[in-house]
Amino acid sequence: MPVPLRNDCFLRACLRQATPHTPVWLMRQAGRYLPEYRATREHAGNSFMGLATNVQYATEVTLQPLERFALDAAILFSDILTVPDAMGLGLSFGVGEGPRFAHPVRDEAAVAALHVPDLGKLRYVFDAVASIRRALGGRVPLIGFSGSPWTLACYMVEGGSSSDYRRVKTMLYARPDLLHRILDVNTRALIAYLNAQVDAGAQALMVFDSWGGVLADGVFRRFSLDYTRRVLAGVQREKDGQRIPLIVFTKGGGQWLQDLAGCGADVVGLDWTTDLGRARALVGGQVALQGNLDPMVLFAPPEAVAREAVAVLDAFGPPRRADGGWDGHVFNLGHGINQHTPPEHVSALVEAVHSHSRRLRQAS
Ligand code: CP3
Repeated sequence: MPVPLRNDCFLRACLRQATPHTPVWLMRQAGRYLPEYRATREHAGNSFMGLATNVQYATEVTLQPLERFALDAAILFSDILTVPDAMGLGLSFGVGEGPRFAHPVRDEAAVAALHVPDLGKLRYVFDAVASIRRALGGRVPLIGFSGSPWTLACYMVEGGSSSDYRRVKTMLYARPDLLHRILDVNTRALIAYLNAQVDAGAQALMVFDSWGGVLADGVFRRFSLDYTRRVLAGVQREKDGQRIPLIVFTKGGGQWLQDLAGCGADVVGLDWTTDLGRARALVGGQVALQGNLDPMVLFAPPEAVAREAVAVLDAFGPPRRADGGWDGHVFNLGHGINQHTPPEHVSALVEAVHSHSRRLRQAS
């Protein structure tokens, strides 16, 4: 049996159980805003994939933010694009650029050739999960993750990041059959990928639907949510007698809150455009909520960071309900931390979340 967790606040909040403080972790908490990350990246030949594919490096950088800040969860150091890379699309990260695929999936022949990859090609990810879990030694839980079928399809069809999603949306409206086939392959691949992360030791799973919010209402349900729902339905929810909480984050998805709350996730992640109090009133009895500080707040002085963190906690309110039960809040940013963020401001944030959320519990 694995070592018992010394801090299970994050898992408890995901499952809407009582916690002494509101747990906090940050999307992209391991990354370029940390000088120690940049130093390790330098050692790895200045390459992101050099870090992600090496078990020792991936373990080291996953733990770096936990050494500095009292975070309540660790997240696997990897990327959502490892799955299409394993499908043979040829992932690279140019210096100062975003991701690129050498072989984007744009025509009927490329779509027909697409297959669920051999999980052996992703072995480095599962080895990293096992190694990080050992290195954590029960300090905090480890979150595994993947992209959503739609968000991966955006990169696979566009061939990289995009400002207008022109190619993937053209396929959606002109040849929906092709896009459905890509989404189906992605769905089956992601189910196998996430289950293998749980087998290797991931204690919670998050699906990043980063670009669901660029879709028209109605289209979102058919091309993003329905496939995310299938992924969640295919994932194991228990390991060693512990429930594995599932988190779904659709950036820009605030208007589909009720649909997201009904898609099989335990936790719905929100960006900063949705009020947490309103979200709690709508779906707080059904799912826990994760979020939702604007990452740009972290550029303001520490006092302002603390004030804005308090505002997010107060918007959710004391998690203990009048009837004695608990609703769940996991504090996070509304999107990934910016690479220029001053690390000292992150210390101020984590400290403010822990201290104010303790005060909220005493007052209620
Ligand atoms: O959160 C973490 O600390 C865990 C690691 C993690 C990374 N990417 C590391 C990474 C996670 C969970 C991701 C998810 C991811 N990757 C998403 C979904 C979340 C989101 O931001 O919406 C997306 C869309 C990607 C795709 C991706 N990977 C892009 C667009 C880029 C380039 C942009 C950038 O920030 O440079 C990456 C590279 C990447 N993935 C970096 C990191 C730390 C930067 C790496 C570097 O150059 O050192």
